[in-house]
Amino acid sequence: MKYLVFTVSILLFGTAKAVPFESQKFSISSPHPLATKTAERVLKEGGNIIDAAIAINLTLAVTSPYFASLGGGGFALFKVGENKPIALDFRETAPQKTHPRYYLDKELNASANGGAAVATPGIVAGLWHLHKNYGKLAWKKLFKEALDLSKNGFPVSGEWVRYTSSNKDRFNQAGREVFLRKNDINLKPADTLKQPALYSALLILRNKGAKGFYEGPIAKDIVSSVQATGGELDLKDLKNYKVRELKPDTVKFYDHNIYMMPPPSSASAVMGVAFQLAEKLKLKERKPLSVIELHSLAEILKRAFKARTLLGDPDYHKNPITHLLSSTYINELASTFKPHKSTDVKLLQTLSVTNESTETTNFSVMDSKGNAIAMTVTLNGGYGSGVVSQKYGIALNNEMDDFTTRPGEANQFGLIQGESNKIEAGKRPLSSMSPTLVLKDGEVVMAVGSPGGPRIISSVFQVIYRVLVNEFDMDQAIQAPRVHHQVLPNKLYIDPIRVSPDVIVSLEKLGHSVEESSVAKVYGVRKNKKGWLESAFDSRGEGLAGGL
Ligand code: DON
Repeated sequence: MKYLVFTVSILLFGTAKAVPFESQKFSISSPHPLATKTAERVLKEGGNIIDAAIAINLTLAVTSPYFASLGGGGFALFKVGENKPIALDFRETAPQKTHPRYYLDKELNASANGGAAVATPGIVAGLWHLHKNYGKLAWKKLFKEALDLSKNGFPVSGEWVRYTSSNKDRFNQAGREVFLRKNDINLKPADTLKQPALYSALLILRNKGAKGFYEGPIAKDIVSSVQATGGELDLKDLKNYKVRELKPDTVKFYDHNIYMMPPPSSASAVMGVAFQLAEKLKLKERKPLSVIELHSLAEILKRAFKARTLLGDPDYHKNPITHLLSSTYINELASTFKPHKSTDVKLLQTLSVTNESTETTNFSVMDSKGNAIAMTVTLNGGYGSGVVSQKYGIALNNEMDDFTTRPGEANQFGLIQGESNKIEAGKRPLSSMSPTLVLKDGEVVMAVGSPGGPRIISSVFQVIYRVLVNEFDMDQAIQAPRVHHQVLPNKLYIDPIRVSPDVIVSLEKLGHSVEESSVAKVYGVRKNKKGWLESAFDSRGEGLAGGL
């Protein structure tokens, strides 16, 4: 009998623990369990993938403000119905009073901390645009959980406590009042956090739509909070904010088409090169995760990142995407590859890469009919600028730091950026965010994205590669060890713990300077060969895979 109970429970737990999460109608991967549950509710009520993504973001704005508050921006790549995939750009813009030399006479960290770091937020305009043009349910129905969790509270997670306590010294007064206990004491995991101020803002948004954010009391609150902390964002910047629909860039990878975010993201220019080089160099003949395969991946990434510095906002700068994705350029890069030796790769111009900063996130939703969305949102750093709006408790981004803040000089991370990414009023800073769709015969088979600065690009590339070439499932592909190389610094970053020390020694023998460092957090959904949907999230962070 005991044996029977044991066997039955093994069987039951065995099915309950299926990884990746498999479902038949809808598939969801998000960085917070409450957000995934929100999406499940919206889909059960007849919502589509767009409704689900909007509702996920609204819930995350409450549960995970360090990367998904209403004061940030982002990109979405999605396909609905018969439409071709669309890239939506709701990235923040430089306020009208900023210019290429804006930070030269300011404190060194002014583009990262305080009001001067804040760019015009785009998230709310992005959500509204998605709803108006592609959503199915009433706008009001998407707010249920966000309103409930902000009013009645939710238990904070370990990740919440870690990001909040590590940023508390950067908070303005409102930030301390909203996110800390009295006397600046940290909350502990499982403590309840209520956000009555944010609740009032969400009510305004629910009742008035995007106008309720870009005009009226919320806009006034944001502007006065930014100006009180040294910034110059004004009401006109908010009122004039506009999203852009862009045409995704695509490359063919064996029998799949990869749809990538175009500039102002560097995703297509870097990842598009990586996919083409992987095919050209016949990477698939290398054993997955062998030393020689990891070496080849590093060499591919180095070459792929080489030209990132040439990119900028397409409304202000002509991007050489056609050349970078051409066979001439790919052949040129491939010709310098050495299978058993690390090569020295030079940047095409000056450098345009940033360290992995602390927060951004992605969520992906897909249905069995081939509708899918990958959406990446960010405040740039954890809690962005550290400025939280005084009246409505909205954490505001520090996306200005993604621009070339000090032309020709290393920025606060010791990095130099390119002329194409100089600050201009109304311009979007260059990004690495890479929400990506994979299509086969015109149908979406995967929707993936990640936080992690430039490591986003290498991680999304490797996860897609593992699924398409090595036939890993969505979970195996996401959890597999990854490498990252961005030319400068000349380092091969490799997942800590997941790679054995002898692999590191072997890579060093090939000439790589190896450093163990976490390589992004991917959230992905896909349709597998059985026709089932699979979702998985990265165990390097929090999240929940779900579906119906
Ligand atoms: O747009 C970008 O590339 C950066 N603002 C993203 C920052 C990021 O991913 C930080 N997350 N870990």
